[in-house]
Amino acid sequence: MSKELMIERIEKAQKEIEAKREKIQQGKFRQNYHFMAETGWINDPNGLIYFKGKYHFFYQYNPYSGFWDCMHWGHAVSEDMIHWEYLPLALAPSEVYDDHLKGGCFSGSAIEHDGKLFLIYTGTCNNGNGFEQAQCIAYSEDGIHFEKYEGNPVITAPEGVPTDLFRDPKVWKHDDTYYVVCGASKNGFAQARLYKSTDMFHWEFVNVLAESRGEWGYMWECPDFYPVGDKYVLMFSPMGGKERTSVYLVGDFDYDTGKFFYTISGEIDWGFDYYAPQSFLAPDGRRILVGWANAWDWMPFWKDWGPTYQEGWCGFFNIPREAVLAEDNTLKFIPVKELQDLRKNKQEEADILIKEDEKKELRSGCVYETEMRINLKKSTADKIRLNLRMSQGKKTEILFDLRKAEAYFDRNNSDGWSKGVARCPLNLMGKEHLDIHIYSDKISLEIFSNDYQNNFSCNIYNVDDDQKNEMTAIGGDLMIESIRSWEL
Ligand code: FRU
Repeated sequence: MSKELMIERIEKAQKEIEAKREKIQQGKFRQNYHFMAETGWINDPNGLIYFKGKYHFFYQYNPYSGFWDCMHWGHAVSEDMIHWEYLPLALAPSEVYDDHLKGGCFSGSAIEHDGKLFLIYTGTCNNGNGFEQAQCIAYSEDGIHFEKYEGNPVITAPEGVPTDLFRDPKVWKHDDTYYVVCGASKNGFAQARLYKSTDMFHWEFVNVLAESRGEWGYMWECPDFYPVGDKYVLMFSPMGGKERTSVYLVGDFDYDTGKFFYTISGEIDWGFDYYAPQSFLAPDGRRILVGWANAWDWMPFWKDWGPTYQEGWCGFFNIPREAVLAEDNTLKFIPVKELQDLRKNKQEEADILIKEDEKKELRSGCVYETEMRINLKKSTADKIRLNLRMSQGKKTEILFDLRKAEAYFDRNNSDGWSKGVARCPLNLMGKEHLDIHIYSDKISLEIFSNDYQNNFSCNIYNVDDDQKNEMTAIGGDLMIESIRSWEL
């Protein structure tokens, strides 16, 4: 146990950041309004919490290159989730249980206990036969400088759970007890395992909260469990889930047995770049989710490690979204209202008729927000096509097929890097309107539609300055009640 070693490694990492900051910030692929690290690689959001008047975001971080390695925890604070101040790194690998051969301080979460800010994270080391993972504690008086608990690790893998598939503790408090849910794998099936404690140091196994029977992969990364309305939600990112990157289940939870009984399942985001979301409570009671805007299986590794890697960085967070329970107990994921402060130069149109095969030009550029409401009853079109981010032969096509009840996000021609067509069923039964809400930033498109239930987040690496956006009515006319757009 060496307190000094962690301090030394944090100082070394800070010097690395200092040396690279200026150059990396000039990169042409840097986002305008999404959360990024100053330099280097980030993946999962960790330890999201509103603590002593500020939003704290921690993140899986490698300060030494634009690719995953040797995990630290980065740290930033904000008053509005839009403007960020970077703080010194919170955790660096320094102990036997979180160090040695490509391990580090893996994902975890935060909670206030005893007036201190507590982190629970996965210490990962290599024991010679592969990764060994166990759950560890660190705490801080000032919310900036952290110390690892001497008794770490506090939760180790049980019999039958491979030690390299036991991670990502998410903590919450209910009455006087702390609970943690951890991702695990047993007999090839994913599990969410539940533990409890009264002091954050001594943990007792409660039950397998929920498990996959094969339909949701062999391991659940970054499980999260929280109440919304009178229901509970379990969400996770399945390994072996192919196109599924982030799943949610809604049901009832029995604290006496620690069992979750779910009846509803859905996808938080149907795109390729939304992974490992973590939730936290805002002071006004909103349940907010932040995801990593990449997914391991869909990154542009195949071409020189991807475009931003070449600028010395990689990774950002999707825009924060509020999880809201719909009447039928499914979830909607609505961009947080704080984003409205970014709006500039509003354009507005109402009652627009687009004739069959006609093109309607939308706000041009690549950093913008556009929202529209289509009257389905007064429209005869079979399909709505959005051609976005078009320039110099590139385009990203979003298609709403109203007859087939499906939506598609095609990025095969977006930029020469990205590929794949993301798709989802589009349930418009009994609906009179389709709403589409687009957030576009330098290298990303987040499309929310159908009352925030059909959401696509996909990265596209077109940064040309002459980009155009348009929509077309196919197989009939389209009646649009309103289009509003802003520069961001
Ligand atoms: C998810 C994940 C976690 C792990 C972390 C390592 O993206 O694989 O399961 O804790 O990233 O950086």
